[in-house]
Amino acid sequence: MVEAPRPARVLDGKEIAAKVRREVAADVARFVEKHGRAPSLHVVLAGEDPASAVYVRNKERAAKEVGMAGEVHRLPADVAHDELLARVRGLAADDGIDGILVQLPLPKGIREQEILDAVPFEKDVDGFHPMNVGMLASGRPALVPCTPLGCLRLLDEAAALLKADGVPFSIEGANAVVVGRSNIVGKPVAQLLLQRSCTVTIAHSKTRDLPGLCRTADVLVVAIGRAEMVKGDWVKPGAVVIDVGINRVDAGDGKTKLVGDVEYAPAAARAAAITPGPGGVGPWTIALLLQNTLRAAERRLGAR
Ligand code: GUN
Repeated sequence: MVEAPRPARVLDGKEIAAKVRREVAADVARFVEKHGRAPSLHVVLAGEDPASAVYVRNKERAAKEVGMAGEVHRLPADVAHDELLARVRGLAADDGIDGILVQLPLPKGIREQEILDAVPFEKDVDGFHPMNVGMLASGRPALVPCTPLGCLRLLDEAAALLKADGVPFSIEGANAVVVGRSNIVGKPVAQLLLQRSCTVTIAHSKTRDLPGLCRTADVLVVAIGRAEMVKGDWVKPGAVVIDVGINRVDAGDGKTKLVGDVEYAPAAARAAAITPGPGGVGPWTIALLLQNTLRAAERRLGAR
């Protein structure tokens, strides 16, 4: 008799993210007791991008819930480059501020890199500063971008679940393919996978035979920002699939829906474990942002 294929383990980050948030809340209380003030996170939101507005509201609420201080600095879409730069420089110079996050994308006409460069590395809770990028690349991670960290936590979760199921899977030595080469996700996630002794390939829009390459992946991380671009039959049977994409698409009848960068149902039919499309990595990202803010605060005060 042929055994029915085992359904894929679904990697839902919500529960584990809630646990991390509780841990951060306890650490924040200890921080307040020791230093007489809460760690503070300041978020800069320029413009009216609807997705960014939702992300920032969630970050604001989560920071409050764990007892952090801070503020969201909302600026209009037509804010002048120099005004935005001055605002970020002001936050950088304020000794009472531990973490700064400039929500991307910035409005047209703003020179994004110049704005990001104004965030000092010790307050860079996004992990975008060249110092933090270099520390990660040299194997001494300091402040690491939150979404890539979330991907690795989910991969650890997958390894634990598959081990409990008796399915052979090891992160060490796995062939990992990262689809997408952004500074926010693709490049740092590749660094983290390399640190965990995966054999890593970064694929992008110019990669030849992307389907064939994906079919070699024991670990497939997709952060390309294109709705359902990775097809189910690109997934190697038994692979672990981490889909970072959140794309709004037409669902007919004037409605829209959110989908990932991977065609979920056919991919789930082949994978050993998979994120549940939109919603897998997201909750993690915010929990890890809080953790990064606490770390930044501890490093700043500890360094005195
Ligand atoms: N926009 C989408 N993802 C991110 C992120 O991780 N950090 C910032 N600052 N903006 C984003």
